[in-house]
Amino acid sequence: MKVPFSSLLLLLLQESGIYSICCEHNKTLIFGAEEGNVLLQVERRFPIRDISWFVGEKMIASTYLNGEMHIPTFTNRLSSTTDGSLRIHSLGKKDQGVYTAYIRQMDKEICSQKYELQVYRNLSQTDIHINHSVSIKETCDVTLFCVVNGTDVTLTWLNVGMDQTVSVNRDLHVYDAHQGETYICTAGNPIRNVSKALTPWDLCEQAKALNHCRLQNIIKLVLLIWIMLQAICLLIHQRAAQRRRQRARGLARTHSGHNWMKIP
Ligand SMILES: *[C@@H]1O[C@H](CO)[C@@H](O)[C@H](O)[C@H]1NC(C)=O
Ligand SMILES: *[C@@H]1O[C@H](CO)[C@@H](O)[C@H](O)[C@H]1NC(C)=O
Ligand SMILES: *[C@@H]1O[C@H](CO)[C@@H](O)[C@H](O)[C@H]1NC(C)=O
Ligand SMILES: *[C@@H]1O[C@H](CO)[C@@H](O)[C@H](O)[C@H]1NC(C)=O
Ligand SMILES: *[C@@H]1O[C@H](CO)[C@@H](O)[C@H](O)[C@H]1NC(C)=O
Repeated sequence: MKVPFSSLLLLLLQESGIYSICCEHNKTLIFGAEEGNVLLQVERRFPIRDISWFVGEKMIASTYLNGEMHIPTFTNRLSSTTDGSLRIHSLGKKDQGVYTAYIRQMDKEICSQKYELQVYRNLSQTDIHINHSVSIKETCDVTLFCVVNGTDVTLTWLNVGMDQTVSVNRDLHVYDAHQGETYICTAGNPIRNVSKALTPWDLCEQAKALNHCRLQNIIKLVLLIWIMLQAICLLIHQRAAQRRRQRARGLARTHSGHNWMKIP
């Protein structure tokens, strides 16, 4: 078992500038998907002895050419490949940051390689919704809103027929839409693109059908109220007629009573 490279010593050497050689001058940008895994690949351009992996000033692992690995703190989310590259599993946003590999060569020279890890949500079809508001005048005018669950996404609206990007934000206003005219909203991040298509004309037709249905319902309701009013009128009328008849009969009886009283 090889002794892991002393992180403190390494830092001191690093700070003193003696070993500030870069194996690769530029940072390597790496995109990872949440729940997925990434490989921080080391370039093998010289014989390697061991590699110390740091996040900031914290050492997270030492890897060796045979795939052997030493991890100072327990975590089962790290593994190593036979060339000493580091794999990080079950990624989360918290894993984002700059990783540095201090690569010790066989001749004891050390060079460093930086990786910048960015973690994004692996978008799915259910993360994208299209809301709309329709205004029907003589023309079919529709406003579409592409709503996505997740941050760091870029949105684009494409007119399919014209194969042309028509908006690069959430909203799309379509004036005088024609039958068959289709638009696609694409939400994307470096991990994945998801899309949803919509035909504004169909939305107008639906809205028209709904309006028509509503109008019919209103007519039905008015008709129903009219019939009920008629029925109530008839009932009141009948009641009144009945009362009039009863009163007439009662009057006749008192009349005959009066007459009977008068006879003696
Ligand atoms: C490093 O990055 C700079 C600009 O950021 C670029 O001009 C250069 O080509 C890059 N070098 C390599 C080796 O990728
Ligand atoms: C994202 O998820 C899909 C399945 O939903 C999967 O096929 C794909 O490999 C995933 N992408 C990444 C980078 O993990
Ligand atoms: C889109 O519609 C859903 C459901 O109808 C609603 O919950 C949401 O707030 C709407 N979003 C926007 C931005 O209009
Ligand atoms: C949005 O995504 C989160 C996970 O990142 C999930 O918990 C939540 O249910 C999603 N919301 C909707 C409306 O899909
Ligand atoms: C998403 O789409 C854009 C534009 O078509 C493309 O450049 C990019 O590579 C795609 N990204 C993924 C992760 O597929």
